[in-house]
Amino acid sequence: MTLLGDMEPAEAESVYFNEYPPPKSLPKHEALARAFIDLHVEDKRRVVLVTSGGTTVPLEAQTVRFIDNFSAGTRGATSAEYFLQQGYAVIFLHRQYSLLPYSRHYSHSTNCFLDFMDEASPSADSPNQNHGPIQVRSEYQDEMRDVLRKYRYAKQNNRLLLLPFTTVAEYMFELRAMAKLMRPLGPNALFYLAAAVSDFFIPRSRMAEHKIQSSELPANLDNSSAIGSQEIYTGENEVQPPKSQKKLVVNLDPVPKFLHRLVDGWAPDGSMVVSFKLETDPSLLVYKARTALQRYSHHLVIGNLLSTRKWEVVFITPDPPHERWIRVPKARRSKSISGVEDQVGLAEIQKGGQQQPQPQEVADYSDETRDGIEIESLIIPELVKLHDKMIEKKTQKE
Ligand code: PMT
Repeated sequence: MTLLGDMEPAEAESVYFNEYPPPKSLPKHEALARAFIDLHVEDKRRVVLVTSGGTTVPLEAQTVRFIDNFSAGTRGATSAEYFLQQGYAVIFLHRQYSLLPYSRHYSHSTNCFLDFMDEASPSADSPNQNHGPIQVRSEYQDEMRDVLRKYRYAKQNNRLLLLPFTTVAEYMFELRAMAKLMRPLGPNALFYLAAAVSDFFIPRSRMAEHKIQSSELPANLDNSSAIGSQEIYTGENEVQPPKSQKKLVVNLDPVPKFLHRLVDGWAPDGSMVVSFKLETDPSLLVYKARTALQRYSHHLVIGNLLSTRKWEVVFITPDPPHERWIRVPKARRSKSISGVEDQVGLAEIQKGGQQQPQPQEVADYSDETRDGIEIESLIIPELVKLHDKMIEKKTQKE
């Protein structure tokens, strides 16, 4: 049997999308997106589709178990805020329950919103002297007012559309539908693919319908018409399921990379496509990001290492300078529990397995007044400059 990854992109698309029913929420999402896009086309505003969070890979059609990945959606949610600040309208295609723009400041387990609240003393004329009004603690007033104002502005002016997905198949359907709906935007459309999309999945044809059993079924259920023996245990509909061992072997196929189809088919002519490349091995990052750019012929790959992603990224572009590092200066780096600060700069030094010059800080952000700065506050303005240039070139041609 030919794997989807071995097929031509257009053929893989038709096989993949024919295998799954579209997500139930797709028609509703399409209607919302159509209205949102129409509004911004009319206002000649740029629209960015930000993808965010991980995707799940179900092991059963009636899903009890699934494979997931680490992404909390921090990159996507944070970037969305900086795009809004730059005047873009944002379609935020995100993993359900991952972080959202604005509310992310108060939804982390380490940033519980209740810690920002206090009960004030009841006013003298209050009928219930045991109940004071709930209010934001004085030390958080300025920060929360700022977030609240931006959030309200985005909502009241229809600048932010939140669309959730859960599984990798739902993500694919949503991405394709949104890209096609964005066609009237032409070069004003931008795709910012920060989601950590699963690379492997179980095709629908091989997926167990019911919960995979971890032990043998009672004799009266074995071979019953309700639960066929081939549905027991393996995650696949095998002819001879193992009877005694309890090891679960899951056989996954590669998920087709639809970036080709996005760049060459679904996305509007002249639009800008930005993908991400995540690696854990510093010596591979630049090579893998360059390879992705060559393979899909799009406009920008943003490379990041799992251990340093909050403090540095690399822009890989088809035009000079081809490779550009963006780093938060040492004194402005926020703390990260999962990050390894010692590794900042390693991917630049170790690329191609050769010793390179010491990494340079790329820009002076000394006018920033806050303590830690978010790397997305540096990424998005740089990216917008590239989008400006693309639009300018396109308009000069016409
Ligand atoms: O959420 P955080 O914790 O903040 O983490 C952010 C992040 C590390 C997940 C993010 O910065 C990032 O790097 N995302 C991309 C992860 C990755 O390496 O993806 P990939 O190599 O599997 O895919 C390459 C690109 O194609 C990605 O932009 C991906 O979104 C996109 N893709 C991939 C497969 C697929 N079937 N469809 C896609 O659109």
